[in-house]
Amino acid sequence: MNILEKDRKYLWHPYTQEKIAQLPIPIVGAKGVWLETEDGRKLLDGVSSWWVNTHGHSNPYLNEALRKQAETLEHVIFAGFTHEPAVLLAEKLVEVLPEGLTRVFYSDNGSTAVEVGLKMAYQYWRNKGEERRTFIALEHAYHGDTIGAMSASDDSAFTAPFKNLLFKVLRAEAPYALHCDKCKQKCNLSCIESLENLLEKHHKETSAVIIEPMLQGAGGMIVWEADYLKRVRELCDKYGVLLIADEVLTGFGRTGKMFACDHAEISPDIICLSKALTAGYMPLGATAATEEIFEAFYDDDRLKTFFHGHSYCANPLACAVGIANLELFEQENTLEKIVFINSKFREFEPKLSTFNIVEDVRIIGGVLAFELKVSDGGYLADIGQNLYQEFLKRNIVLRPLGNVLLFMPPYIIEEKEIDWVLSEIEDVLTSHDSK
Ligand SMILES: Cc1ncc(COP(=O)(O)O)c(C=O)c1O
Repeated sequence: MNILEKDRKYLWHPYTQEKIAQLPIPIVGAKGVWLETEDGRKLLDGVSSWWVNTHGHSNPYLNEALRKQAETLEHVIFAGFTHEPAVLLAEKLVEVLPEGLTRVFYSDNGSTAVEVGLKMAYQYWRNKGEERRTFIALEHAYHGDTIGAMSASDDSAFTAPFKNLLFKVLRAEAPYALHCDKCKQKCNLSCIESLENLLEKHHKETSAVIIEPMLQGAGGMIVWEADYLKRVRELCDKYGVLLIADEVLTGFGRTGKMFACDHAEISPDIICLSKALTAGYMPLGATAATEEIFEAFYDDDRLKTFFHGHSYCANPLACAVGIANLELFEQENTLEKIVFINSKFREFEPKLSTFNIVEDVRIIGGVLAFELKVSDGGYLADIGQNLYQEFLKRNIVLRPLGNVLLFMPPYIIEEKEIDWVLSEIEDVLTSHDSK
C-alpha cells in the first residue's frame, strides 16, 4: 500500500468530510514558501500552513535550535520542574508583549491557550470572592474547538453539532462594516454601543470580554479599526471587567505589528498565543496575564491554585524554537518584511476590487482577504472550494474560509513570488468574471 492508500485506511483528517473531500495531497518536504508533493510538484504555501509559519519551512536557524535542544532535553514534566528554554522564552515574551503582561502560562495549542484564558479569568474573580459566570464575546468570533473556546466562538457550521453542550456567552456586535446595516461600507463603530449595553446590564456577572483584536480570523478575516479596540479597552476599564485578547492568529507580526493590540497601544489583562509562537514548527500555547491576576492565585490556600495543565506544557523543543523564532524577528527585521508584503497587497487592491465576483477586499499586515459574492450557501457555498481547486492546479495553496479567499504567506516570501501569486489571482478571477 502506498501512503495515500494507508492514509485512506487509517486516518481521519481535521475539518474534512471524508466521503466527499478530494484526496489529501502527500507532502514529502518543504523549504521556504514551497511544499514539495510526492509526485514532484512544488506548491506555494499561501496560508502559512494554517497560519502558523513565519520564517519559512525548514529554516536552517530554527532547524539548528531544534536539533541542539533535542540533544539536550526533549521533555520533562513542568509541574515541580523547570528548564532554561521555558524560562528564556517567557522572559523574551514579556519583553515584546504589550506592557503589563508579565506572567506566562504554557499549554500546547491555540484552543488550550484560550481555554486557559477563560478559566484564569473566571477563577480570578472566584478567588477574589465573586462568582461571575458570564463572558462577553463578539459576533463572527472564532476562538478554537474545545468546549470553552467553542462557547466563546459565534454560532457557525463548526459549532452547530455541539450547540447543546456549550455554555452561554453574551454576544456583542462586531465592527463588520460590509454586513452592518448601520455603517455599511464605512464603519462608524456604532457597534460599540452594543458592547456597552451588554456591559452596563451584565458587568457584575461578567468575568471578561474576549476578542480577536484587529482581525477576526476564521469568522471571515474581518479587519477592524484600531479605534474599536481602544474603545473596548476603555469599556472594560469603565465596567471593571477583564479583557482577554485572543492573539492566537494575530500574534507575532501577522497584522503588521508584533501584536494586534499594539495597533491601538492597549494592553489586555490576558493574552492568548500559539500558532506563530514557534514559527510554525511545534505545537505550543502560551497565555500571559498581568501580575494582578497572578496575585489573585498566589496564596496559602491550595484551593486558589490554578488547577490546569497538559502533559506537554512548556515542551523544551517547542520553547527552544520559540526563542529562535523571536531571535530571527530581530536579526532579520521581520516586521519590515511584513510592511513590504502589505505594500504589495495595497498596490493590488484597486485591481482586485474591480472584479464583479469580489465583494470586499480586506488587508492588514501580511494578510490579504477578499470576500466573494454568493447568492446562497454562505460559508458552505461551492465557490470558495472551486477556486481553491483552481489555485491548486496552478500550484498555489489558498485554502479559503467559505466564500472568503485569503493569501497569508510566510514572511520570507520574495517579491517575485508575491507578484506571481497576485497575477494568478487576477487570472483566475478574470476567467471567472467572463463566464
Ligand atoms: C483566533 C484563534 N483562536 C484560537 C484558535 C485555535 O487554535 P488551534 O487551532 O491551535 O487550536 C485559532 C485557530 O485558527 C484562532 O484563529
